[in-house]
Amino acid sequence: MTTAKISLTLNDRPVEADVEPRTHLADFLREDQLLTGTHVGCEQGVCGACTVMIDGRPSRSCITLAAACDSADIRTIESFDDDPLMARLRDAFSRHHGLQCGYCTPGMLATSYDIVRRVPDADNDRIRRELSGNLCRCTGYAGAVAAVADVLSQNPPAALLQPMPRTRQTARSATSPEAASSSSEPISASGQHTASVTQIPDAVADGVALSREVTIDASPESVWRILEDIPTLVTCIPGAQLGGMTGSRATGYVTVALGPIRSNFDGAADITTSPATKSGSAIGRGIDKLTRSALDGSLEFTLSEAAAPDKSTLKFDALYRLTGPLAQFGRPTVVAAIADKILSDMSDAISAKANGRDVDPVDTKPPALNGFAFAWIAIKGLFAGLWRRP
Ligand code: FES
Ligand code: FES
Repeated sequence: MTTAKISLTLNDRPVEADVEPRTHLADFLREDQLLTGTHVGCEQGVCGACTVMIDGRPSRSCITLAAACDSADIRTIESFDDDPLMARLRDAFSRHHGLQCGYCTPGMLATSYDIVRRVPDADNDRIRRELSGNLCRCTGYAGAVAAVADVLSQNPPAALLQPMPRTRQTARSATSPEAASSSSEPISASGQHTASVTQIPDAVADGVALSREVTIDASPESVWRILEDIPTLVTCIPGAQLGGMTGSRATGYVTVALGPIRSNFDGAADITTSPATKSGSAIGRGIDKLTRSALDGSLEFTLSEAAAPDKSTLKFDALYRLTGPLAQFGRPTVVAAIADKILSDMSDAISAKANGRDVDPVDTKPPALNGFAFAWIAIKGLFAGLWRRP
């Protein structure tokens, strides 16, 4: 069988290996690298036993192809032996009886480590929600929650709470000074002037970057009329419903179907537009009550004339951060595939509206990725990895 050569950093040491396309990361770690601290339970991404750190994020190694981890920075439970924060967590899990058989414990500790660093002010309810992607057959969870709360109550020094480096994702720290001092004064979606370009909140400052460009079959002028009319624009976004507008703030929800999981992100966004530059921004937060996951995001967009007549180019730069149980399914490649689906449907709908055609409601159904779509994403990721081979 054809194999793929991967180079990655595993527990702070460089590793090169030839892997079969179908080998998942958990098997690679256990069978190839003999790192058996990573446990395998369901092998379907549900139980969290196989959680390891990939590029600083807790991730399910049983649904991550090893071939897709080229250039990744991976930490398994074995690499935390001398880590002072993990030492506190291990000690707290023992004292609070946060484990019995210990099968779920490596995954629980990986997730707990992320919680303590990422949400240092988490209360018990938040800790439960953050841990809800890790299943345990023995403890009833109370001990694990108490252990994390105990470590947080010790006020670990700031040096131990620094977010882990995300080596493969481009992170932007703030809105560029150029944008903030732009001479074209932004106005809100409802036509009211706003004081300044809204700053990217901390929640997404170290989020995942996503940039896209789509061509729309209509002139910039007719597309812009839709972009600045938020109620009309929302009808062009598949799965989106506008609840209401107050000033520059829009409320509503977006539904996304991810295989068997259907998420309804209920939330609000602050939207500004600048007619002078045909650009704008949106910063918002949505919560999916069913999976108790949260999506924070910021988006900047610019509309310009395309090379061909009567066509426009719409460029997006987004930063997002998905937290909670869905984050462990929502790998950046999957989120990017959903974004592509939404953008493609949205540009078709905008083009139809801009040219005076009605948008068929069927075209605005929630974007869905089924099992075949997942498989396709995995295959595309694999070939992208092969393409990057020296
Ligand atoms: S083994 Fe259950 S999520 Fe990976
Ligand atoms: S301690 Fe046994 S499964 Fe969690």
